[in-house]
Amino acid sequence: MPIQWFPGHMASARKKAAEAMAAIDVVIEVTDARLPEASSNPMIAELRRFRNRPCLKLLNKSDLADPLATRAWMDFYNRQPGVRAVAISAKNATEVARIPALCRQLAPHRDDGTKPLRMMIMGIPNVGKSTLMNALLKRKVAKVGDEPAVTKHQQTLDLGPGQTLTDTPGMMWPKIAYDADGYMLAASHAIGRNAVIDEEVAIFLGEILLARYPALLAARYRLDPAVLDGPALLETVGRKRGCLVKGGGLDLEKAAQILLQDYRDGALGRISLETPETRAQMIAAAEAARASAVAEDTAALDDEDE
Ligand code: G4P
Repeated sequence: MPIQWFPGHMASARKKAAEAMAAIDVVIEVTDARLPEASSNPMIAELRRFRNRPCLKLLNKSDLADPLATRAWMDFYNRQPGVRAVAISAKNATEVARIPALCRQLAPHRDDGTKPLRMMIMGIPNVGKSTLMNALLKRKVAKVGDEPAVTKHQQTLDLGPGQTLTDTPGMMWPKIAYDADGYMLAASHAIGRNAVIDEEVAIFLGEILLARYPALLAARYRLDPAVLDGPALLETVGRKRGCLVKGGGLDLEKAAQILLQDYRDGALGRISLETPETRAQMIAAAEAARASAVAEDTAALDDEDE
């Protein structure tokens, strides 16, 4: 079942962000390094391009991501005009401390000693915006939590002399174009819990892990990945971890939560759900499926006409 999630308060967040964009110099877009494109809200690029604002693209949680995939994503983004990509961990103070200087390089016209550099943090829920904000300000200003969209209000704060930082709430977009993106977002907990079925999301995640990180699965759960597909992986994890319902059957919901949590916490190891290459393949396959569905519909209509 395709996953969509665009709660009402996010439409008003978009309007406020569009207004705020007029009065800032650099967008700091926070994405999840494990799924940088899937966790990049296309509305942010749209708003930014409309106002011609440069972007510091942060691939956050890079401590949890596959370093090779992160390298490939940085090369991918650094080829885009007006974009500078950096892999960081918002929990690492030294890495966070580099951010204002990087923003300054992106807006040299503000560097004449009179105009403040105005930065704005944007991103979808749960990518680490509040953690970053707190680290930049060296104090706790916004509630940090694992529940998506916990940051509610937009606020502008002074970040030392000549620098301001505007915080925006986690923002999704109205229609997720590719089903795989919905699953990647749900696996990484960017999408509200009530909007997804953990079992389906865990099977999707399991299939990626089996294809790309079989050794990490084998090490964590002492299983043979070569003989498993997504559903069988979930059953095996459930059996190994004693996930049983009353009567002795397997509790697959519980098994799903274990697999998802192990991925989210990094307990499985450093994992990326997409690379520029796998993303290009995913998009090509989805577009081909769409084209063939359209061709079938057209053929069916032609048959009806005859
Ligand atoms: P948001 O404002 O964008 O919604 O995200 P927030 O900062 O609340 O971060 C969401 C979760 O991601 C938090 O986990 C936070 O600690 C974690 N996080 C943020 N940045 C990083 C990072 O660079 N690396 C890692 N490993 N985790 C990061 P939590 O489970 O709610 O809290 P905690 O127990 O980790 O503090």
